[in-house]
Amino acid sequence: MVCLGNICRSPLAEGILQKKAAAAGLQWEIDSAGTNGFHDGESPHKLSQKVATANGIDISEQISRQITQEDFLRYDRLYAMSDDVLDDMKRIGGRHFKASQCTLFLNELHQEKNKNVPDPWYGKEDGFIQVFQLIDRTCDALINNYLQKTNYTEKL
Ligand code: 4NP
Repeated sequence: MVCLGNICRSPLAEGILQKKAAAAGLQWEIDSAGTNGFHDGESPHKLSQKVATANGIDISEQISRQITQEDFLRYDRLYAMSDDVLDDMKRIGGRHFKASQCTLFLNELHQEKNKNVPDPWYGKEDGFIQVFQLIDRTCDALINNYLQKTNYTEKL
């Protein structure tokens, strides 16, 4: 899960997908990173932590880090929260960037619409709540899409 700062959107995506994947019996390794590295070493934004906690998810242990070329080799799928982030991933990934592996996160919810998760960084708490709900629905869609593709019979 990749955003710009790895303090607002992608920490939520990491925490939410970890919880849902575990509940679905999927043993996925899920991590998050940012493209700009401005907040390396920091905890998630207080309002991301607050909305996560309100929904029973603890993201307080996460530490912001910048995405590396190794991430493109380690992970099967890399999800960009927005198109500017996807552009940065192309630049950082270089020859390791593959369009089939790196996609816009919201395309799991709205296929091929190329929508962005809004950046709540400049806004207030309601923006973080809306972003949480959007990411939450998209994680449900992502898991359902995966289960359908892999012909799992057990549904969420
Ligand atoms: P995020 O939000 O990409 O969702 O973590 C941002 C956090 C910090 C900055 C930009 C976006 N920043 O420019 O510092």
